[in-house]
Amino acid sequence: MKDSDRPIGIFDSGLGGLTVFKELRSLLPGEDLIYFGDTARVPYGTKSAEAVLAFSKEISAFLLGKKIKLLLVACNTASSLALDEIRKISPVPVLGVIKPGAESALKAAPWGGTVLVTGTSATVNSRAYSRALAGSEKKVRVTEKACPLFVPLVEEGWCTKPAALIAAREYLAPFRGKADVLILGCTHYPLLKKVISRVMGPRTKIVDSARAAALGARQELVSRGLLNRSRRGRSEFIVSDAPARFSELAYKLLGIRAGKVAVKRF
Ligand code: DGL
Repeated sequence: MKDSDRPIGIFDSGLGGLTVFKELRSLLPGEDLIYFGDTARVPYGTKSAEAVLAFSKEISAFLLGKKIKLLLVACNTASSLALDEIRKISPVPVLGVIKPGAESALKAAPWGGTVLVTGTSATVNSRAYSRALAGSEKKVRVTEKACPLFVPLVEEGWCTKPAALIAAREYLAPFRGKADVLILGCTHYPLLKKVISRVMGPRTKIVDSARAAALGARQELVSRGLLNRSRRGRSEFIVSDAPARFSELAYKLLGIRAGKVAVKRF
């Protein structure tokens, strides 16, 4: 098999990475994509760094065993805590979502503007976004806020229920009107964009990593001569538990027809 014909591997703790998958699919229609959702162990954001690292390495090794040509870590928590270690075990390029998310925010923010980073507790505690934003020439003021209930709400399919608005108000009402840009620093959060935007008000631009991460992946493939343009790409979905539920929510929340979802338990 030619290197360019090999699939791209993508993973997240659950459904959230599908927001990245969707962008990737629309940008790279010729690629075979293998998505892994660690539904048995979601959420990652409340787990220890050691646990997230161990899960991430396990999944990466599994996807690498499928002879992928690129690995996209479609999870901010795993990107914050495990990217360097995954790169050590990977013979193929490994991309995360923190850098693309930070770059999107910097594009959207005015000079000296205020950026509010939202994410899981693990991502916020790692300060990965603050570091990525501080590396830029454009200086912005950064505040980080963990929103730990957002992931379970999304995994429950409760993205537009009153409970989602109550949680968003609890976490974000103190920042209303005070941020120029809000980063959805968790791949689950774009599914809550409506309620988050309602709480933050019209002044705040909301950005996420999905589009920028997909563009980065395409750029990486182009620069390595690995782009597959020849045909219509296939999508394969694998989870660590409850495939029917994953399939149902992928369709309900994102309009993705996952078809037959395989199970891989660790
Ligand atoms: N969607 C993931 C992220 O981007 C993980 C959320 C979780 O499992 O807590 O951080």
